[in-house]
Amino acid sequence: MTQLSASILAADFSRLGEDCRRVLAAGADMLHFDVMDGHFVPNISFGVPVLHSLHAALPEAFYDVHLMISHPLAYVDAFAKAGADLITFHLESEDDPDAVIGAIHAAGCKAGLSVKPGTAAEAALPFLEKLDLVLVMSVEPGFGGQKFMPPALDKLALLRGVCAERGLSPYLEVDGGVDAVTGPQCAAAGADLLVAGSFLFGARDAAAAARQLKRP
Ligand code: DX5
Ligand code: ZN
Repeated sequence: MTQLSASILAADFSRLGEDCRRVLAAGADMLHFDVMDGHFVPNISFGVPVLHSLHAALPEAFYDVHLMISHPLAYVDAFAKAGADLITFHLESEDDPDAVIGAIHAAGCKAGLSVKPGTAAEAALPFLEKLDLVLVMSVEPGFGGQKFMPPALDKLALLRGVCAERGLSPYLEVDGGVDAVTGPQCAAAGADLLVAGSFLFGARDAAAAARQLKRP
């Protein structure tokens, strides 16, 4: 069965803890924490202090941190200390991917590498052996509520095939525009971890929405 990571970018920030408890109770397996620096992406979201508070309020949750920032290396330790379990950074960031992966592992977290829609999935292949997760962006990073870009499906299929050939099993995560239609398409293409923001937080019945995404 696919797992579900709830993108808290779509939460009500005035009652963030409560909203996160609600989606976890509804069936989300983890919380997806979107960090934006206003430089790598044209938007600013939230950072270390928010993760620290959320982790203190919900210590049992698994924190899937997605760094959409130009200089991930400088922030790995701070996010790890604040409660991150898994830290994903972008191949298009300005830091050396091997150095960032090493720093994430040294900080005791799982390491993920993400590619934007304009980057070929093949660009992630040299790092596959070192990774716990590959994140395929199915929208341009920066904003929730965008429309799913279907070429992400081919990238997932390619990554799934190469992982099988090499005997590897990192999570294959997809992020952006995931809903009841596109979620199952991603799962069929090879994704085993779906990020959902607006579809999950905006649903009248979050448990029903989660079930639609986690269908085997
Ligand atoms: C976009 C973020 C996503 C976003 C997904 O830059 O990385 O995690 O919150 O939101 P939806 O599911 O609404 O497309
Ligand atoms: Zn994200």
